Amino acid sequence: MSAAHTGRAWWRDALIYQVYVRSFADSTGNGVGDLDGIRHHLDYIAALGVDGIWLNPCYPSPQRDHGYDVSDYFSIDPEYGTLEVFDALVAGAHERSLRVLMDIVPNHCSDQHPWFRAALAAPPGSAERDRFWFRDGRPDAAGGDGPPNNWLAGFGGSAWTRASEAGAPADDPQWYLGTFSPYQPDFNHTNPDVAAMFAEVLEFWFDRGVDGFRVDAIQPVGKHPDLPDQVVDPPDLDPLQIPWTNEFTIFRPEGHDVWRAWRHTIDRYAQRHGRELMMVAEAYLVRQPELMAEFTEPDQFHQAFAFDVMLSPWDQQSVRRSVDDPLLAYSLSGSPPAWTLNNHDTQRIVTRLGRPEATDPNTWTDLNLKLSSDPGDDARGTRRARASIVFTAALPGALYLYQGEELGLPEVLDIPLEQRQDPVVERTGGETLGRDGCRVPMPWHDAASANFGFSPDGSRNPSWLPQPDDWGDYAVSIEVADPESTLQLYRAMATARRALRTEPHDIDWIDVGNAGLGFRRGRYTVILNLSSVELDVGTVVDDEAEAMLWSGTHAPAPTSIPADSAVWFRHR
Ligand code: NOJ
Repeated sequence: MSAAHTGRAWWRDALIYQVYVRSFADSTGNGVGDLDGIRHHLDYIAALGVDGIWLNPCYPSPQRDHGYDVSDYFSIDPEYGTLEVFDALVAGAHERSLRVLMDIVPNHCSDQHPWFRAALAAPPGSAERDRFWFRDGRPDAAGGDGPPNNWLAGFGGSAWTRASEAGAPADDPQWYLGTFSPYQPDFNHTNPDVAAMFAEVLEFWFDRGVDGFRVDAIQPVGKHPDLPDQVVDPPDLDPLQIPWTNEFTIFRPEGHDVWRAWRHTIDRYAQRHGRELMMVAEAYLVRQPELMAEFTEPDQFHQAFAFDVMLSPWDQQSVRRSVDDPLLAYSLSGSPPAWTLNNHDTQRIVTRLGRPEATDPNTWTDLNLKLSSDPGDDARGTRRARASIVFTAALPGALYLYQGEELGLPEVLDIPLEQRQDPVVERTGGETLGRDGCRVPMPWHDAASANFGFSPDGSRNPSWLPQPDDWGDYAVSIEVADPESTLQLYRAMATARRALRTEPHDIDWIDVGNAGLGFRRGRYTVILNLSSVELDVGTVVDDEAEAMLWSGTHAPAPTSIPADSAVWFRHR
């Protein structure tokens, strides 16, 4: 029986390190990260104690949305390397027992993808146009030619663009759908060419040794065939949330057909080649455990990200729910959650949890792309971020880290508007801060090195996003030598976590009062103190228990958990 059937498949409790290719390490000196840069730092990644890496998209792309606008699914962007460099990276990762996950973007491609160019050149009703969502316009309020429906785009504005604005003849009567932006046209997954192409894409990368895929933006992939008007949302919703409320394109039943077909392709390939392959869904299924379970049934995704803790206020009931919901989904579908506290779309946790509103259960559940009036307190945020990873790492399931999280990097809030590159900024007329602040290139060395060691010695090009002057304080070379650094905490966490693999895959909550949360998992007791005063846990942790991992800089006293911190105890 294969590991997959015994419930011990590698991905079920894996620790995965997300590499944002553009910002990890620049090997050429042009100020942009690349695949060779990652290859040269594989020992660093392996020393973190992770089981694998997830690479953000590195396919050829005009980079309007930094790779989430793919123009060729079968190659590597020349800015990042070549297929040969990619192969060498996969080989280097495998030599170090690191799995490799690619990022695949099914909902849309780039407006420069050859299929979309062909669709623009072809007439309405053509086979080329059927691979996308082209429709005739309808009269707008003023009697002019308006978009086919009222759907709004994820990055701002209408989800529809006139074909003529993208290069079709001036008298072309049609519009096309882009759920995120005009330069990301949505695929029509009911078209057999589209289904066949993605099956080929999966196999192409499996042939090159890839172990799985992070599947981008699964929510809008299925659509109501008639594309009815969406119910108009309250005007004060975050722009990124608006499309998620559109019942005609978000988490549609039609999506399940796509994922079943993908799972079939993956399982068939895995069986033929004796490999253990997987796909993990990027889906904002927060507070929707039943829905999460529907997408992680054994014939669909192997797992789905649980973004619940990442989006949770620092508040007892909210954090408790953000654990309970994904575990409920797990009990329904058998698929353990993929916990995560950070990614390339979200304000970094140090900044998020340091904000004054972080403890307010009512106002703080969005992706935090707007600047709060008070930028908060990074020291407080750092304590909470460290507590959060220690607490979350003990939960059953997989855990995904985002590069720089292990250094305790804060969000960079003051990137000048003109240097911001996230399309969200442009599409919302600068109203939204965007996601650049969590994508600032990694600091590897101190200030004397080119771009803090992000670029090779001697190179003079600035990094593609500016790094703050104090970035060197967080450099790997500094943290590696400091036993109290966040980097050392992450390494200790990875080691401690391995010991948990043999413990049961469920938890029992224990009562530690109103200021904290506690659970038992097998021989372990894990306690999180969410308050700003010490928490006495003498009644739930006996003298014999040994502290195995703690988020503070010093070992805790046996019966008391410091403010804003978390501890694992192991009982004899
Ligand atoms: C989710 C990705 O993580 C994000 O970076 C991207 O902009 C959207 N999907 C659109 O592909």
